[in-house]
Amino acid sequence: MPKMTFIVQSGERVEIDAPEGLSLLEIARQYDIDIEGACEGSLACSTCHVIVDAEDFERLEDPSEDEEDMLDLAFGLTRTSRLGCQILLTEELDGLTVTLPHETRNMLFE
Ligand code: FES
Repeated sequence: MPKMTFIVQSGERVEIDAPEGLSLLEIARQYDIDIEGACEGSLACSTCHVIVDAEDFERLEDPSEDEEDMLDLAFGLTRTSRLGCQILLTEELDGLTVTLPHETRNMLFE
């Protein structure tokens, strides 16, 4: 089983042995990580936004155009932002680390 780490909103690192082939959104849900995923992975929102560790980012497949369009709508977009529902965890991605951005509404009022 590949390992991966979520850095959650409080800054805590949550390390997980995750089943292969699930999306980061599905994994987060299984392990009670607070990620919204309002459209259930159908590329119609950007609430599954995650910020990928810079080194790990290079290991990911390039995002589709649809994903890029949705990412443009995400608050707090960074150079290594991706949508969690579009990344499938595989053995090749063992050790992947992603950070969950702070809640969108907090960012709006900061
Ligand atoms: Fe909506 Fe990922 S859950 S785009």
